[in-house]
Amino acid sequence: MLNHASDDVKKLRSELAHLKTLGKEQARSMPADYYTSCAFLEVEKDEVLRREWLCLGHIGEVRNPGDFFTTEMLGEQLIVVRDQENVVRVLSNVCRHRGNRVAEGRGNSRKFICQYHTWSYDNTGALVAAPFMKKQPAFDQSKCGLPEFSSEIWNGWVFVNLDGNAQSLASRLDGLQEVIKNYHTDDRFLVFMEEDTWDCNWKCLFENFMEGYHLSATHLETLHAITPTRLCKKMTSGDGWTGYHAFYDPEYPPRGPFHPDLTEDERNNSPMYGVYPNLVVGMATNFTLFMCLRPSGPDKVSIRWGVTSLEDDPDAQSVKDYVELCRSFNIEDREKLEILQKALNTKTYHGGPLAPDDFEGTIWDFIHYMARHLAPA
Ligand code: FES
Ligand SMILES: [Fe+2]
Repeated sequence: MLNHASDDVKKLRSELAHLKTLGKEQARSMPADYYTSCAFLEVEKDEVLRREWLCLGHIGEVRNPGDFFTTEMLGEQLIVVRDQENVVRVLSNVCRHRGNRVAEGRGNSRKFICQYHTWSYDNTGALVAAPFMKKQPAFDQSKCGLPEFSSEIWNGWVFVNLDGNAQSLASRLDGLQEVIKNYHTDDRFLVFMEEDTWDCNWKCLFENFMEGYHLSATHLETLHAITPTRLCKKMTSGDGWTGYHAFYDPEYPPRGPFHPDLTEDERNNSPMYGVYPNLVVGMATNFTLFMCLRPSGPDKVSIRWGVTSLEDDPDAQSVKDYVELCRSFNIEDREKLEILQKALNTKTYHGGPLAPDDFEGTIWDFIHYMARHLAPA
């Protein structure tokens, strides 16, 4: 069994190495095992995900000092918190005593009190009280704070690097920053956030979000009238990201209100981009939709998805309408991806030709990104 698993991984590494040698006119997708193998997922976790910047959510979720939310990433229990000095931190949500979780859900608090034996921590992670422990000679309170992970905020999204060795994220996204700067993500407010789980591989969702080829077919009733497939235009991507412009059908009414900095061209398309490996974003002129992906097994992905708006009003009708639109096309995507995942449990599918660059070049970029990590030259 183990040998089979390592054979599968070897085959996938050599397929990635092979695809690296092909030009984009020969672009093709990966075989089924890439999306179904447990052994390959473990390799991805160790050699890609733990080493990279992973998006956990949005700073709008921790707007005020003391605001926090808990989440999980690759089995790590995490707290994202804004401390009293306004520093956003990613702390381990595991008590330094015997390992219980110290916080649940979300909320606002100056302290995290472990419910097991009531050790309590402030919101920088420092241990501030531990009943009776002063009587224990070996106990050193100053050495028992909650560990803090490396974190970085980019355009309002909170990223964590679990292994602590990744180079700065922002420097890898210079080209993307140039593309999106006039949309002013920093002026957009979080107006909606929800969690979901889909029965598909995390990369299938990344690829689906990032390609415009399916827009007119899968989203005939929802997005086709706004961003038809024929108007998709691939961006020149970078090492840390890929993207395309989803141009608006000229028949569709203008999608204002517009930030005054937006050029005519920018008013007519949504930059769609993926920050490797787990953040995908659709940045419309008036709203931003984003999804942070977390694998929960080869055939399950946990999603934290949200919407930001130029207006700081979650109850606005325009927000409700946009969230409703997102829900509708998410249902359409989910249906396709869950069928796809079942169909990938096959021995017959070995990958197929990808559509031209403007439509599926982003998938080709993503495969190359994975190859850079998993099939070194
Ligand atoms: S495990 Fe947290 S106080 Fe004991
Ligand atoms: Fe879609």
